[in-house]
Amino acid sequence: MTNKARLISGDTPTGKLHLGHWVGSLENRVLLQKEYECFFFVANVQGFTTRMEEPQIVYQNALEIVTDYLACGIDPEIATIFIQSEVPAMAELAHFFSMLVPLPRLMRNPTIKDEIRNKGLSDNYSIGFLMYPVTQIADILTFRAEVVPVGEDQEPHMELTREVARRFNQLYCGVNSHTEDADYIKAGGLFPIPQTKLGRTKRLVGTGAPTAEGQLLKMSKSLNNAIFLSDPPDVIRQKIMAMFTDPNRLRATDPGKVENNPLWIFHDTFNPDKVWIEEAKDKYRKGQIGDVDCKKRLIEILIELLKPMQERRKLFEKDKHAVLTILRDGTERANQAAEETLRLAKKAMSQAYFKRDLRLTEL
Ligand code: TRP
Repeated sequence: MTNKARLISGDTPTGKLHLGHWVGSLENRVLLQKEYECFFFVANVQGFTTRMEEPQIVYQNALEIVTDYLACGIDPEIATIFIQSEVPAMAELAHFFSMLVPLPRLMRNPTIKDEIRNKGLSDNYSIGFLMYPVTQIADILTFRAEVVPVGEDQEPHMELTREVARRFNQLYCGVNSHTEDADYIKAGGLFPIPQTKLGRTKRLVGTGAPTAEGQLLKMSKSLNNAIFLSDPPDVIRQKIMAMFTDPNRLRATDPGKVENNPLWIFHDTFNPDKVWIEEAKDKYRKGQIGDVDCKKRLIEILIELLKPMQERRKLFEKDKHAVLTILRDGTERANQAAEETLRLAKKAMSQAYFKRDLRLTEL
């Protein structure tokens, strides 16, 4: 137990993690793991909201994500890495919290609306799919986290989380509704009102062409425009060489457009040499430098960024047992924290009847 503030974040196991995850959240997690008491988890139950027909894939991806966490520098000695489905307090709290979320309020959630549209769910989405923002509230509140590093698309869920935390604290802990967010614990509340921590790049674009309306799409596995943290150098080379840039620039002597050009968005995001970028952009605009040269530079930078991650990844890839042991130890620690919150929440809701013990053992 520490007296550091808590931080939580998770990922749905939809595939390996990519550069968009890195700049959107992972990089922050690695940077903040000493400053906060950190919990990082694989949201495999949430994964079932859209992948209930592919359970083995969810399992494989879950272990991939744990491996990615370890590869990108999350230290399991410092941070707690765990799996959502083995922390029952999260599901139990989600059920209680669902009573505090009006259904029409949920249906106005723009991320839910987007996902129903983008994933073609039309009117076939399940009750479980609609529940996922509620389980996400429980993911966060179960750990009484103050900080949540996520991408900007998660902000509607964060707003709901804050609403439920305020409501619970007011209803069951006697906190006055005029209390400032920062003062809820001081006022006797159980749940801090959590803050979103956005990454330095809120929404990294992918390597592909824009939409018909000229809008660049975000990096996403399902859009086939992602560079994965585990991509070897030759794959990075090939993806960057094939990357969309300025479609009107046919040769290096044509003036190029820097704005809204993934090549330059990537340089701005990953190239630490700001002087080089400014000079090269200037030349690009004037048709004095080729796409290929700028791409080659970017390839070197990305290979360099990912190299230490891939070296660590190799160690863990060979040893699934080590990955599972780290996951079990973390899940054990997560359960201690989660059970404590659940006990306090039940007490606040006047539903304390018995005490219980929870322990994990190997299969
Ligand atoms: N929905 C998040 C995503 O797709 C993953 C997630 C689930 C999460 N529960 C969370 C993130 C709790 C932060 C906190 O990225």
